Amino acid sequence: MAKILVTGGCGYIGSHTVLELLNKNYEVVVVDNFSNSSFESLRRVQKITGKQVTFYEEDIRNEEAMEKIFSEHTIDAVIHFAAFKAVGESCKLPLKYYENNISGTVGLLKVMDKVGVKKIIFSSSATVYGNPERLPLDETCRLSTTNPYGSTKLMMEGIMQDLYKADKEWNIILLRYFNPVGAHESGLIGEDPKGIPNNLMPFVAQVASGKLQCINVFGNDYDTPDGTGVRDYIHVVDLALGHIAAIERCTDAGVHIYNLGTGHGYSVMDMIHAFEKACGKTLPYKVCPRRDGDIAACYASPDKAEKELGWTAKFGIEEMCESQWKWQSGNPRGYEA
Ligand code: NAD
Ligand code: WQD
Repeated sequence: MAKILVTGGCGYIGSHTVLELLNKNYEVVVVDNFSNSSFESLRRVQKITGKQVTFYEEDIRNEEAMEKIFSEHTIDAVIHFAAFKAVGESCKLPLKYYENNISGTVGLLKVMDKVGVKKIIFSSSATVYGNPERLPLDETCRLSTTNPYGSTKLMMEGIMQDLYKADKEWNIILLRYFNPVGAHESGLIGEDPKGIPNNLMPFVAQVASGKLQCINVFGNDYDTPDGTGVRDYIHVVDLALGHIAAIERCTDAGVHIYNLGTGHGYSVMDMIHAFEKACGKTLPYKVCPRRDGDIAACYASPDKAEKELGWTAKFGIEEMCESQWKWQSGNPRGYEA
């Protein structure tokens, strides 16, 4: 079976993807420096699947160490999750983001080029569409960014496009995720944000568990059906399966770009109400001013992924909220002992 190297495999999306790779009998090598995770997620993935992962605690920017890892394994493809992802922090500390995301990716690509592994699946983001040109967003929509984090994603896409122009042996798959939420059905792995969550659903889950007091709804005067922001929330397990579809179906050299979303937009209030149903409680919320840099609505056209990868999202917002609640209520302190 093919051997996949997963960078950032201890993180939220990485751990769920490693689990699905193991379920499909792939051999998996993970590289992570624990800058936003710990080994506990992988320990649990191994427990759930009954399978082992080869793990290296390493920074992907350490090219020498990365080369050594590639020399110890015959790697067929790399799934590259390792990056920083907090939009607000990226505005305050842009260099930290350019350094880790851009230098990390360039270093990784250099090593892959040197050892002759030329297939990469890259975690891009709907953030590269900036303020949407039209909805739903398809892969041909105009690209732009509204913050340094988004700029790193757009630049990395550009770097990989240039790489393919120079060397037509590369097989590059850019997956643009919409809003990943939820957790594995076991309730044993999930998102474990440090400090107060920036994203809506982990915040809602922590209000439901009593860790936080009240949900802040950032604006109810957008041009959307109920005035609150609309997003395309996608179950993290569906997202994980999208990576496997990409590995298996994208076998030709080229740059292949896919949106991974459900195609449905839900408002902040839709998500709060769905979560209330899942946890069986009424959740306190207050309407606050709009958050800087937010857009009114963003949702995908997932048609290309369906046509070419044979992939569609299977889970709805009920399963997203139920699984997120199972994870949150069973692990109120995340992966901390
Ligand atoms: P995460 O922070 O949970 O996972 C990232 C992992 O990468 C962490 O385990 C971290 O320790 C590791 N890492 C970071 N820099 C590293 C380095 N230099 N060397 C080795 N390991 C390093 O984030 P996530 O939500 O799982 O996101 C995974 C990827 O998907 C990221 O590239 C992110 O930008 C992208 N993405 C995330 C979202 C989202 O909302 N979660 C949406 C779109 C795209
Ligand atoms: C969703 C909606 C908020 C928090 C971010 C990144 C994006 C991608 C996914 C990585 C919006 C509202 C939020 C809160 C709220 N990440 N909200 N109260 O901003 O769509 O996307 O994560 O690539 O790049 O920007 O996600 O979950 O922060 O917000 O009302 O406490 O919830 O205004 O309408 P966003 P989010």
